[in-house]
Amino acid sequence: MSGARRILIATHNPGKLREFAALLAPLGFEAVGAGAMGLAEPDETADDFAGNARLKALAAAQAAGMPAMADDSGLCVAALGGGPGVFSARYAAGDYPAAFGRIIAACAAAGEWRARFVCALCLARPEGTAATFIGQAHGVIAPAPRGAGGFGYDALFVPDGHELTYAQLGPEVKDMISHRARAFAQVAARLAAGVA
Ligand code: IMP
Repeated sequence: MSGARRILIATHNPGKLREFAALLAPLGFEAVGAGAMGLAEPDETADDFAGNARLKALAAAQAAGMPAMADDSGLCVAALGGGPGVFSARYAAGDYPAAFGRIIAACAAAGEWRARFVCALCLARPEGTAATFIGQAHGVIAPAPRGAGGFGYDALFVPDGHELTYAQLGPEVKDMISHRARAFAQVAARLAAGVA
């Protein structure tokens, strides 16, 4: 996109990169993926979403010498005591259908289907400054996965006020209501003001 300011998105997850690119484009920013820049993925050693987002954003900004944004996100299921939370990717270990089955079984056993997605989004500069914002989306676990769109746990999560899962709602709706969109709304004001 000509004339767009570039911002590094510190993720190797194509689903997240696509969502951030869609959110940033209307603000005149071009999203560049960490993979395209040849950046390594730092270990997520913090014990909360905000800590992991901060360490990923700072590492990327300093390695690339440009402003970077990172998110750390996950699904917190009431029947799992808030898990898998920061361990969401590791909980699935690449086999989402199996993870869906474990989550549905836990919810059914507890008779408790509430869940929330959380996104911590950190905007960092190469000089070492960073600001972190949190977005949440509350909802329920679907009794069976539904929908082919999206990524990760999208097929399992029905946001409050909707009957369909994130996967069924598709990017047009998800990008307006998601945990990531809510965190991003707070960042957008900063970017628009030229604080990035
Ligand atoms: P992270 O890269 O450590 O933040 O991993 C977050 C993990 O949480 C992803 O790999 C997914 O499993 C899950 N996750 C986070 N956001 C979403 C979403 O919007 N839809 C579906 N799954 C998500």
